[in-house]
Amino acid sequence: MLIELESVTKIYNQGRANEVKALDRVDLTIRENTMVCLKGASGSGKSTLLSIIGCVFPPTDGRAAIAGKQLSRMPDRFLTIHRRQTIGFIFQQFNILPNLTVLDNITLPLLPLGISPKERRLRAMPLMEKLAITHRENFLAGQISGGELQRVAIARALINNQPIILADEPTAHLDTRLSQQFMATMADLKAGGKTIVIASHDPLITDDSRIDQVIGVKDGRVNVP
Ligand SMILES: Nc1ncnc2c1ncn2[C@@H]1O[C@H](COP(=O)(O)OP(=O)(O)OP(=O)(O)O)[C@@H](O)[C@H]1O
Ligand SMILES: [Mg+2]
Repeated sequence: MLIELESVTKIYNQGRANEVKALDRVDLTIRENTMVCLKGASGSGKSTLLSIIGCVFPPTDGRAAIAGKQLSRMPDRFLTIHRRQTIGFIFQQFNILPNLTVLDNITLPLLPLGISPKERRLRAMPLMEKLAITHRENFLAGQISGGELQRVAIARALINNQPIILADEPTAHLDTRLSQQFMATMADLKAGGKTIVIASHDPLITDDSRIDQVIGVKDGRVNVP
């Protein structure tokens, strides 16, 4: 299994007055080369679940194995390295830096790896082509369209050739046409071998026939059909 959670609990601010149990003994396995959706109300724990799968932090309790590595009590430094190699993130607001060019945004994850500018561009070229943004390479990201911005975010999530793509409410700021385009790109990436986990309550995603499994999240617990 590519993603395997066993009785995962996540407590924020443990032991303090503002303690929150965001995940409560979650069992979840996700196979390689599948596309799944996490669906649930606001505050149910979807983003927290993505953070555990995305190696942002280990569970407070329980076991999480991502791409063959146990996260539980893994030191931060190793967690960060594992995350860079394994996970591509696409955020709701895309988190693109408006004052950097399209190329610099896409290659941002390569900076900590000490890869030369020339090599960074070489790696970005096929992705920009695939996502039809080559003509915007040297534009500032603040000066391109919403659909182009979305494709820049996707390219950035792929730049390290990570096997797992996580998307948190990716269509929240997109119109119907761009949302459909987003799903088509995800389906395409799955066909190319990626494993994709999308947190969303957008029917355009949750009801899409290309989603292999919809996982219900409610009050920090999951419900696997
Ligand atoms: N950094 C944090 N510190 C404290 N509590 C947090 C933190 N992040 C999330 N929470 C709490 O954990 C619970 C789950 O939050 P989470 O963000 O995972 O929900 P969600 O399903 O993604 O919601 P939404 O649909 O609104 O994005 C909520 O009660 C939330 O307030
Ligand atoms: Mg969320």
